[in-house]
Amino acid sequence: MTMTGLVVIAISGVTALSVQREQNTFHQEWKERASLLLDTLEVVARDPLYDLEADVLSQLISALAQNHPLLTSGHIYDSDGRIIADLHRQGPVYATQSSPLGQRLINSEPTVFIWQSQQLVAGRAIIAGEQRLGAVSIGLSTAPLQQKVARVRNQGIVIALIAGGLGASIAVVLSRSITTPLQALVVATRKIAQGDLNQQVPIQSHDELAVLAQSFNEMTSRLQQTLSLLQAHKDELEQRVQERTQALSEAIQHLQQTQTQLVQSEKMSSLGQLVAGVAHEINNPASFIHGNLTYASTYIQDLLDIITLYQRHYPNPPAGLQEAIDAVDLAFIQSDLPKLLQSMQVGSDRINEIVRSLRTFSRLEEGDFKPADIHDGIDSTLMILKHRLKMATGNGIQVVKHYAPLDPIDCRLGQLNQVFMNILTNAIDALQDQEAAPSSPSQQPPTIEIRTRSLSPDWIAIHIFNNGPSIDTEIHSKLFDPFFTTKSVGQGTGLGLSISYQIVTEHHRGRLYCHSKANWGTEFILELPTHHPDETMPDLAAADR
Ligand SMILES: Nc1ncnc2c1ncn2[C@@H]1O[C@H](COP(=O)(O)OP(=O)(O)OP(=O)(O)O)[C@@H](O)[C@H]1O
Ligand SMILES: [Mg+2]
Repeated sequence: MTMTGLVVIAISGVTALSVQREQNTFHQEWKERASLLLDTLEVVARDPLYDLEADVLSQLISALAQNHPLLTSGHIYDSDGRIIADLHRQGPVYATQSSPLGQRLINSEPTVFIWQSQQLVAGRAIIAGEQRLGAVSIGLSTAPLQQKVARVRNQGIVIALIAGGLGASIAVVLSRSITTPLQALVVATRKIAQGDLNQQVPIQSHDELAVLAQSFNEMTSRLQQTLSLLQAHKDELEQRVQERTQALSEAIQHLQQTQTQLVQSEKMSSLGQLVAGVAHEINNPASFIHGNLTYASTYIQDLLDIITLYQRHYPNPPAGLQEAIDAVDLAFIQSDLPKLLQSMQVGSDRINEIVRSLRTFSRLEEGDFKPADIHDGIDSTLMILKHRLKMATGNGIQVVKHYAPLDPIDCRLGQLNQVFMNILTNAIDALQDQEAAPSSPSQQPPTIEIRTRSLSPDWIAIHIFNNGPSIDTEIHSKLFDPFFTTKSVGQGTGLGLSISYQIVTEHHRGRLYCHSKANWGTEFILELPTHHPDETMPDLAAADR
């Protein structure tokens, strides 16, 4: 709008200047015209004025008026400045008083020009030698000048109006062409400020605004690229943090497992050492007894045979001997001594059996996989736990075995004994807890049932069941977690099942799971491959790597 105003002002100025120039030109032209008319009037009026022929002068001035329609007035003055001929009056004029203009003209040398609103009055004195004969004056209408000025002014106004209109339109168009892209830019900038970087402004021209829009679009594209780069870095970092956290938690878990294993194996190793020591100490004296019993039996049998022979050859012994025979009841000794020796033999065999079991159980340090009889392991463990099978009431816990004929399997028997020990101890604990709880008297005698079976040529299963209380479903999933226990402090560490799980699943590539049902009991099932896991289960071994 300011532009339009400036244009209008400029055009008004130009118009004013044009009017001024027209006026100056016109003034000059009118002065020349007036001078010419005065020249003519002076030439024709000189003689009649000299003779003061008022009629002639009047006719002259009328004739002049007829030829020059622009003449508005015309006067001829005598030497005293009185009007003697007037354009607007017919015939001579005999004025009594001199006119001020006439007197001024007579006294002035050059032509006098007086600009009035409607006309230019021009006059001069008529001089003949030294004598001033009079003066002439004419009035020339300035109407053409008014018209010309009005025309120029009107043209100026029209031009100013057109220029103003044009200027305004151009200004609107221009401002639209500038403000519209600028507004688009502002909107896009606001959206970017709000976080929406997906902004591109349209490029519709080839001016500075287009350059600005182009730069803006490039800037948003770069921003987007930088942001996606940052996002990618962030994702990568998060991924790395996640990986590290995962690795850390795995390391912690591994550490925990190692720790639990250490604690448990330390426990088992101490027990194994104790058992091995006891077995060894008992084994020596037991071997003496067992080894000498055979000789003792032979010797005693020989002696008994000799006594029988004596009795046959000397049926009537002397009185003193007979008294001694009666006192010891020789007949009873003769019949009871072989039975006594027989029972000593059984006892010795039993001791041997126990020592063998203790030795089987204590095979903890034997780290390699070796073919071993699973049943031996279970039996030796039961033997160790025998003292715990007694109950406060009744006949104690019944152990029922259903052993299938199984070939030895490749295993670390010491470790498997540890598993049997943990599961059987838990079963005994559960049954004893049930008996101790007054609210739930058991209907059936407390029983542990051990069943073995062959699943396939490559797999066997061992079921260890007890008819004690069932395990709540909420804690079922936590059974194998390290340190999970329901037992009071000092009674249980919560490591038994987690160690067992590790031994079965990791070391033996087997499976260990548990079934428990109310009014039935709890059963742990071990499934074990019969051959060395690294040879028989390459897929699992590979998966582990
Ligand atoms: N036969 C079972 N009957 C009922 N509950 C059982 C049986 N076996 C295990 N549980 C439950 O599982 C929990 C975990 O057993 P786990 O052998 O791991 O630890 P613990 O026996 O409590 O302690 P630890 O064996 O280290 O001395 C036990 O506290 C018990 O609640
Ligand atoms: Mg336990």
